[in-house]
Amino acid sequence: MAASRFHLGWFLGNSFGVHGWNQPWSGVDARDWAQPDLHIELAKALERACFDCLLLEDSVFVPDNYGGSMDFYLRRALRAPKNDPLPLVPLIAQATTHLGIVPTISTSFYPPFLLARLIATLDLMSKGRVGCNFVTSTAERAAQNFGLDAHLEHDLRYEMADEFVELATKLWSSWDDDAVVMDEKSGTFVDPAKVHAIDFKGRFFSSRGPLNTAQPPQGRPVLVQAGGSPQGKAFAARHMDIVIAALGARRHATASRGTGPRSRQLQGAVRCCPDPGRDRRGGAGARATPAGPARGRARSDARDDGQPDRHRLLDLRSRCTAG
Ligand SMILES: Cc1cc2nc3c(=O)[nH]c(=O)nc-3n(C[C@H](O)[C@H](O)[C@H](O)COP(=O)(O)O)c2cc1C
Repeated sequence: MAASRFHLGWFLGNSFGVHGWNQPWSGVDARDWAQPDLHIELAKALERACFDCLLLEDSVFVPDNYGGSMDFYLRRALRAPKNDPLPLVPLIAQATTHLGIVPTISTSFYPPFLLARLIATLDLMSKGRVGCNFVTSTAERAAQNFGLDAHLEHDLRYEMADEFVELATKLWSSWDDDAVVMDEKSGTFVDPAKVHAIDFKGRFFSSRGPLNTAQPPQGRPVLVQAGGSPQGKAFAARHMDIVIAALGARRHATASRGTGPRSRQLQGAVRCCPDPGRDRRGGAGARATPAGPARGRARSDARDDGQPDRHRLLDLRSRCTAG
């Protein structure tokens, strides 16, 4: 019997931020943190290892949870400084051939038309290798960076996200896939009959359309999300091709793949998925330590050496909760 196929994605936490600062084997990363080279090397290595995609985390604020101050985070380069990961996408696309590239954007703060155009452009440039990880953003500080005093309420954020993705999807199909004819004889680059206004009027967003670039090669770029609340799962079920989940134990991973009690909630989600064949669920959290567990442990101890326990916990928490 042929072995069943599976997909591999690499979720890069702290994305285009500082990796390996002040650790043994950090190399030149601290000095060159703002250069794209490390990420390009990572992408090339993932492609050699036959990974399907690289997912790039993102957040849009400097944390100050600990001690009500940014000091702790800034001194340790924890989540700041962090560059916008979107400019990495074309660079990675140029340096690779097959790897899928999935940047993260916030449905609470990005204008849908700009996002639809940006992702369509990247999908066209990469000949169909781009996806988008949609997050609603959880942090109050992120909301304050976009003019809000307080963040929108959790469920309302998912209602916005729903409409956001619905609108972006309509914009991506506002050009028929054969609209660009490039017919030199008739002097027609685009067949006007194949480009359509969408006249979208929603509760949160409106857009006349059409998009002012062509349909992305994948028709609709690969859609990804990570929220695990009932609203997050329903959002995933309605729109997503990939769901990423932080699964701490093998039994949780097994459950989320279709057996066991926890899977019952997810099966509800998969049932209303428009095309269950497209559904892909991935667990984030497994970390390969090529040098073996003992050496990995030693490295992690060396990094944490001298940090009080509460700092380690905060470090872990700020790695786990993006916003
Ligand atoms: C594996 C994983 C990756 C995530 N990546 C991001 C991210 O890059 N940026 C972000 O703002 N939130 C990120 N999140 C947070 C989720 O998008 C979501 O806001 C959070 O899980 C809470 O959603 P919920 O209320 O539906 O459970 C991630 C969550 C998980 C589990």
